[in-house]
Amino acid sequence: MSELSVNHLLGIKHLNPQDIELIFKTADQFKEVINRPIKKVPSLRDITVANLFFENSTRTRLSFELAEKRLSADVVNFSASSSSVKKGETLIDTVNNILAMKVDLVVMRHPNPGAAVFLSQNVNSIIVNAGDGAHEHPTQALLDAFSIREKWGELKGKRIAIVGDILHSRVALSNIFCLQKLGAEVMVCGPTTLMPKYIKSLGVQVSHDLTEALEWADVANMLRVQHERQDTRYFPSIREYARQYGVTRELLDSLNKEITIMHPGPINRGVEISSDVADGDHSIILQQVENGVAIRMAVLYLLAAKKQMEFSA
Ligand code: CP
Repeated sequence: MSELSVNHLLGIKHLNPQDIELIFKTADQFKEVINRPIKKVPSLRDITVANLFFENSTRTRLSFELAEKRLSADVVNFSASSSSVKKGETLIDTVNNILAMKVDLVVMRHPNPGAAVFLSQNVNSIIVNAGDGAHEHPTQALLDAFSIREKWGELKGKRIAIVGDILHSRVALSNIFCLQKLGAEVMVCGPTTLMPKYIKSLGVQVSHDLTEALEWADVANMLRVQHERQDTRYFPSIREYARQYGVTRELLDSLNKEITIMHPGPINRGVEISSDVADGDHSIILQQVENGVAIRMAVLYLLAAKKQMEFSA
């Protein structure tokens, strides 16, 4: 297969395993490109991309921008805080005005779950979801699975524990979909209050004991507690949370096994992960960030190529 089954990247839910494998194979090639002295290819030379960020971001925003520039696309960046959204302009009006400037592809982060699907149904452009509220973060899940594949070989049969604030996490949901489509087993671990009620219907194992989860897992993906999405107190204190669900060097040493530690960022050092683990030899956190550029290059390239093929058919 050399073509994606989808016209947009709205969520991992909409991809099939062949789509994910195609993205990985394409990212393998782009990873080689970005490690060359000349990191640029002309693949998207006639394409203009708008990055629309209605929510804060460091990694995703810079990673998309670098991916676009390394593919030779023209890039415009939009930040809601300094735009006419503040004067009451709707999302559809905002995007249609940007598209009128001959933009071909929109990358959007938005606080509302479903915003990317809504946009894809209401404007005429390729849409890439860069995170929509607590719903999905598809490129994060793709770069996470790609990083596990790089470290452990194929995903089939691997055991991945996702630890922390599952309730508010788009990374958790996209990772669950992606890892299961690739044949991995998934366990979620965290306090009962940070676990969605429907979690078992996703076919994952559930644990409230970090040591048990780490003993089971080949890989642990440590998530940040998302205070900005919390409307009430979900645990007694940060200190209590860190004691029960924070991964430390002592805990890893006590396991006496090979285990890989991941984190999507931003990290709260001393809360979900200690500094010596974040910076230590179990951690592949910066490899995840590096792989993010190659994965996003692959996604943008494959979506633009599919559109191009439709035009020329
Ligand atoms: N992982 C992630 O989405 O980080 P940012 O919020 O900094 O983009």
